[in-house]
Amino acid sequence: MQEFLELINRYPSPHNGQPIRLKQTSNEAFELYFDKSRGLQAADISFIFSFVSMGVFVEHMRLCAQALGHGFIYTSLLPSEKELHGNGTILFARCRVDWNGAKKDMRLQQTLRFRQTSRKKYYEGPSVELVDCIQRIASDNRMRLSELDAAQAVQAIWLNQRAVFDDLRDEPLRRELDHWLRYTQAEKQHKKDGLAYDCMELNGRFMKYTVDHPGILRAPGISQFLKQYYLRTMKDASSVFYMMAPFGSEQNAFDVGMVIMKIWKEVAEAGDYLHPFGTIMSNHAAHGDFLRLIGEDHESRERSYLVFIFRCGKSKPPIPSLRLPYTEHLIME
Ligand SMILES: Cc1cc2nc3c(=O)[nH]c(=O)nc-3n(C[C@H](O)[C@H](O)[C@H](O)COP(=O)(O)O)c2cc1C
Repeated sequence: MQEFLELINRYPSPHNGQPIRLKQTSNEAFELYFDKSRGLQAADISFIFSFVSMGVFVEHMRLCAQALGHGFIYTSLLPSEKELHGNGTILFARCRVDWNGAKKDMRLQQTLRFRQTSRKKYYEGPSVELVDCIQRIASDNRMRLSELDAAQAVQAIWLNQRAVFDDLRDEPLRRELDHWLRYTQAEKQHKKDGLAYDCMELNGRFMKYTVDHPGILRAPGISQFLKQYYLRTMKDASSVFYMMAPFGSEQNAFDVGMVIMKIWKEVAEAGDYLHPFGTIMSNHAAHGDFLRLIGEDHESRERSYLVFIFRCGKSKPPIPSLRLPYTEHLIME
C-alpha cells in the first residue's frame, strides 16, 4: 500500500500543483477528488484542461497498479467544467484495487520512477520506433500526433517563449504563475510543490525580478537578452510534436489526459524525456499562430483541437521536482 501510494505520488501535474486527493473508502476502494485551489484558473481554457490533469492521473495510477502487480478498475464521474471554479475538492472518479491480483512489472516500475519533465537542452531526438509507437497510441485513440519539421520546430519554440513572456504581462496569469513559482532552494524544500527555478533551468533571482517587473520584457536590449537566456536550453536536437483531438466535452479532455500519460510512459521507457509547451495552447495569439504554422485551418472543439505540444528526446537527467508527502497530502481523511 505504502509503495503504491509513493509511486502514485510521482504523477505529473500542471505547475506541479498536485491537485489530486484520494479517499480510501474500503480495503480495495478509493474515491478520487480534484482540489480546485490547486488547479489552474486564470485562463478560461484552464478549466477544461483540469480534466486533462484528471485523465493523466487516472492513467498514471493504473500504470502504478500494473507495475506493482495490482488489478485496477475505475469509473469516471466527471463533474461539469463550471463546477471547477472556486475552492474545495470535487469527486471525479472511483476505483478498485485488486491487491496483488496480477504479476509485478519491474520494468514498468523503473519507467515510472524515471519519468520526468526535462527543460534541459536535448542532445538527441526520439528514435523512429518511439515516434511510431507514440503516433500509434494517438491514432488508436482517434487522436492525431504529428511531428514538426526542423524549421517549424524553431518557430514553435520561439512561439512558446513569446507566449510565456506575453502571459507575464497579463495580471491574473502573472499572479497565478507567481503563486506557483519557487524562487529559492529554501522555498522549494519548504513548500514541496510548484515550479522550482532549478527545474525550470532558470536563475531564481532573475526569475523573481522578471515576474515582479514584467515591464522589463519590453525594455530594448534587456528584452533581447532575456529572450536569449530563456531560449538557451531550447535550441537543441529534440523533436517537437503536437496532438489534435476532440475537445468538446469534459470526457474528451479526460481522454486526452489518459493518452498523454500513455505517450509519456513510452517516452520514459525509451529513456527519453519530454517538455510540454502548454502556454502555446492557452495563449490565444500563440495558439492561432501555431495553427497557421502547421497549416491547420479547420480546428474545432468537436472534432479536432490543438491539445498538446511538446519537445521530446534525450537530455541529461533533469533536476527532480519535489512532491508533498503522500501521507500529508495525497491521502485525505
Ligand atoms: C497536463 C500537463 C501540462 C503541462 N504543461 C507544462 C508546460 O506548459 N510547461 C512546462 O514546463 N511543464 C509543463 N508540465 C510539466 C509539469 O510542470 C511537471 O509535470 C511537474 O512540474 C512535475 O514535474 P515532473 O514531470 O518532472 O515530475 C505539464 C504537465 C502536465 C501533466
